[in-house]
This record gives sequence, structure tokens and C-alpha cells, in this order.
Amino acid sequence: MKNKKLVMIPGPTPVVRSIQDQMGRETVSFKDPEFMKDYKDLIVDLKDIFRVKGEAFVVAGTGTMAMEMAIANVTKDGDNVLIVSNGYFGDRYIEICERKGLSVDVLSAEWGDTVTPEEIEEKLKEKDYKAITVTHVDTSTGTVAKVKEIGEVVKKFEDTIYIVDGVCATAGEKEYVDDYNIDILFTGSQKAFGVAPGLAILFAGERALKRREELGTIREYYVDFHKWIPIMNDPSKYFGTPPINLIWALKESVRLIKEEGIEERYQRHIEDASYIQKKLLDMGFDILAKKECRAVTLSNVLYPEGVDDGEFRKVLSEEGVVVAGGLGEYAGKLFRLGHMGNIDKHVIASTLAAIERTLERIK
Ligand SMILES: Cc1ncc(COP(=O)(O)O)c(C=O)c1O
Repeated sequence: MKNKKLVMIPGPTPVVRSIQDQMGRETVSFKDPEFMKDYKDLIVDLKDIFRVKGEAFVVAGTGTMAMEMAIANVTKDGDNVLIVSNGYFGDRYIEICERKGLSVDVLSAEWGDTVTPEEIEEKLKEKDYKAITVTHVDTSTGTVAKVKEIGEVVKKFEDTIYIVDGVCATAGEKEYVDDYNIDILFTGSQKAFGVAPGLAILFAGERALKRREELGTIREYYVDFHKWIPIMNDPSKYFGTPPINLIWALKESVRLIKEEGIEERYQRHIEDASYIQKKLLDMGFDILAKKECRAVTLSNVLYPEGVDDGEFRKVLSEEGVVVAGGLGEYAGKLFRLGHMGNIDKHVIASTLAAIERTLERIK
């Protein structure tokens, strides 16, 4: 009999049946009154859950598009920006900002560690930075940045817009937009929301919206806040065809979040991560991220001596679980295990058991 494969990579994460069902619905017109209400309700719920008085955007695109959308709406040519990089996705922002003609400074951490709020404060004193970007969880390292404490620091710098890349965090790691002084937070549907890939979700607080006003016409078209705000407030209007089934799927994900409770969801992620990480350590693996900055949404798991990455992941896949390989200099040295979104105890138990069987088979 053919085994079902559990896709335990850090996105796309497993999509539960009730969300799949929304994807499989017959597609209606985007002017359908029920769909328009669903879209509107989704925006209201998202703003409520993530505590933002400004705007929420749900737009077709991936996390990378949301990265561009964030920076495009709050900076203009030549502006100073500070990029805090704790790994591969922090580094991705360097190229995005350089191509946009921004003057880029970077604060980087060793992989497995994070830049501290104190280092950020010192750096912000050096120049008039128009924006700072921080990756909440860098998927390449499995580290979590102290976004709340960094928010306290950025608050002292009036001109600096605080952008948080929540792609591997939002709806798993604790995050509240206005409470944490975050000006822009974004993610993709395929991570801790547990929806198929294809949607970018972005929150803009009041300071970010004011900055957008001050910029006047911006060069970018599709990602311009001003093009989308009328749609988010009134989905009967048209700018780009909405991905109807994905929007329904996200609405179902949000319903599940409301049913569980966002605080309870955050707590579940903490408990699951600590259980999984303890079991992996007991099996002889190590975790790349230092203990004090370990994410709860994924683990980047270092192999014990003598375990070959290719063989391990091939046998693990035969045992029914798919994980991702390491990035950058950690390619071949670790595997990346997602444990975010709508996964339950059965999925976790099956995954750990498959890892144990794999170790048995390859030793
Ligand atoms: C932290 C982070 N930022 C940005 C991205 C880019 O998102 P996407 O692949 O949806 O474009 C990813 C993708 O994994 C990510 O993990």
C-alpha cells in the first residue's frame, strides 16, 4: 500500500480538510454578494485578531511580493534603510532594497543567533533611517527575533517605519501589530495559516499609512497600497481579480483560529515546539538556533556525525514524511522541519516516529 506523505517542510504546511474543501468549491463571480461579504468579513477578522487599527491587505502573491509591497509604500529613492538579517530571508531584503535605489545598511547575526535590540538601538542612532526591516523567524536558521523589544526601541525613532517579515511566524509566533509598535507586518498563506500558497497578507498601521500619503505617487503599481485600500474596504470594487477560492480558504483558516483562540494557538505552538525539539535532542540531533532564540514554528535540525543528508531525507520520505534541506552553508548539514499551522498531535507523533524509523534504517 502506498503511504500518505506528510509534508512537514516549513511551508507549504499541511492543509486540513475543511480548508481544502473551500479550495474545491465552485468558483463564483467576484461580484457575488456572498463572496463580497466573505472577503469583507475576512479583512475585519484579520484586523481584529492581529490588533491593527490601520489596514489589512489580502492580495494574490507570495511572501516575496509582500516584502516588496512593504518597502515600496514607505520609502523613496535614496532613503536610508536598515536591514536586520538573521539569515537567508533577511539577506533577501538587501537585494530588494538595493534594486529600489535605497541606501542600505545591514546588521547581520551569525546563523543560529539574532541581532539584539541593543545593537539595533545603537545603529539607529547613526542616521535618519526611514525604515527598518526585521525577519521575525528566519526560515533558514530557525531563529526568532525579539520583535516586541525591537518595537520598543524603534518607537524612540520617529522617522523610522518598522517592517516585520512574519512569513514564517504570523499565526504561530506571538505578534500583535499596534501593541508591538509594528508599522507593517506581512506573511504568506502557506505557512502558519495552513492555507495553500498564493496569498500575501499584509497589515499596515497608521504611521505606515501616513508615510504612504506623504510619498505621493509611487513607481510601483500592483503593490501600491492606494490601489488596494478601496478594495479592502469595499470588495465590490475592482482592481485585480481576487483569488476567490484562496480567500475562502483563508477565511476558513481564520475561523479555525477564532475557534481555537489566538493566545491558545500561540501556546500550542510553544508546547509543540518544545516537545518536538526535546525528542529530536534525545534522538541525537542538535538544533541550529541557540536556546534563547529558538522559533516555535520550525526547527533546523543538525545531523549527528555520520548521517548523510541525501540518504536521511530519501529514507524519511519513504517512511512517509517530507522535510526540507538546509540553506546556504548549512546545505547538507541539517534538515528543516516545519511545525506550524494546523497540525495536531497525531501528525507530530507520526513525524517523530518516521524520523526514528529512518535512523534505525540508515544506521
Ligand atoms: C521568512 C521568510 N520571508 C520571506 C519568504 C518568501 O516567501 P515566498 O516564498 O512566499 O515568496 C519566506 C519563504 O519561505 C520566508 O520564510
